[in-house]
Amino acid sequence: MQPADLNLTTTIVGHQLFLFVTFGLSPDTGGADGEMTEALKLLGHGMENIHDVDGPPTEEVFKNGRYQFLRAETALTSDQQIEHPAVSRSDGLIRLECASLEPIRDYEAGLRTLIESHGGSVETLAGVQRPRSYTSYAMTQFAYAHAMPPGPGDKHQLAAVTPMNKTDAWWQMDFLHRESFFLPRYDENENMVVKGHSLASAAGVPGISRRLVHAPEGYGLPENYDFVGYFEFAESDAPVFREVMAALRDTKQNPEWKYVLEGPEWWGRRVKDAEGFLLRN
Ligand code: HEM
Repeated sequence: MQPADLNLTTTIVGHQLFLFVTFGLSPDTGGADGEMTEALKLLGHGMENIHDVDGPPTEEVFKNGRYQFLRAETALTSDQQIEHPAVSRSDGLIRLECASLEPIRDYEAGLRTLIESHGGSVETLAGVQRPRSYTSYAMTQFAYAHAMPPGPGDKHQLAAVTPMNKTDAWWQMDFLHRESFFLPRYDENENMVVKGHSLASAAGVPGISRRLVHAPEGYGLPENYDFVGYFEFAESDAPVFREVMAALRDTKQNPEWKYVLEGPEWWGRRVKDAEGFLLRN
């Protein structure tokens, strides 16, 4: 389904690719040799390494593209309803973002050739950034004005990726009905009966930096997740992130999740450079 048919914005303000890398097993070809490190550095030439950056990118930098290396935190990753081993069992992730798709698709093609030539594989999740569709001025003040901006990797060490689909029943719903899930609901005496998405997850506003991308080709299609969430936070805020996910998944507090099917909740640790990304344990 296309955003315009759903009363959702059709504007695209950026592109993201999540490149989940599984390294080759062969010890003589898969190691972090200098040649591979150099090739990986070359792929990012002219792009910004997000790792040490505090705050959002400038327009100029966003035009050239940006990347963040992450190593898998396998013990923290969990499968949800949709199994996707190429994501959940990956060794690491390179997250790319750019104003246009071409530079980061070129990076993806180069990475795939490099990793496959060393016996590994790359699984890509793609998404587009869009302005918010359901959010009023007042909700902006509540959910975004005080939200944690992106921070450097030594401050926000951890990240989680949450690919997900919404069910056909969700996409068949009228937009006013869909919009109502983001707000609390009240009975005839104005007592709150459910918190809804925004209030259920409110604990995450000050300490979790969040970004969301939408399926590039339209919603409800088999080739892409409808949404991929990306969250960065300090090690000390990991319990808050877990609390927020538990609250969103509690359909008594957040009935929206009755219409959600999740891919793996993938956890990773941000690493500074190509050397750190390729390092073998
Ligand atoms: C941390 C506090 C959070 C707040 C305050 C919050 C608030 C919101 C709001 C207001 C929207 C509507 C955006 C629009 O106008 O289009 C939204 C959308 C969304 N949020 Fe959250 N959110 C939070 C965390 C999360 C988390 C942890 C997830 C986990 C996966 C998540 C997943 C989504 C998704 C998938 C959408 C798009 C839903 C749709 O368009 O059908 N959010 N969120």
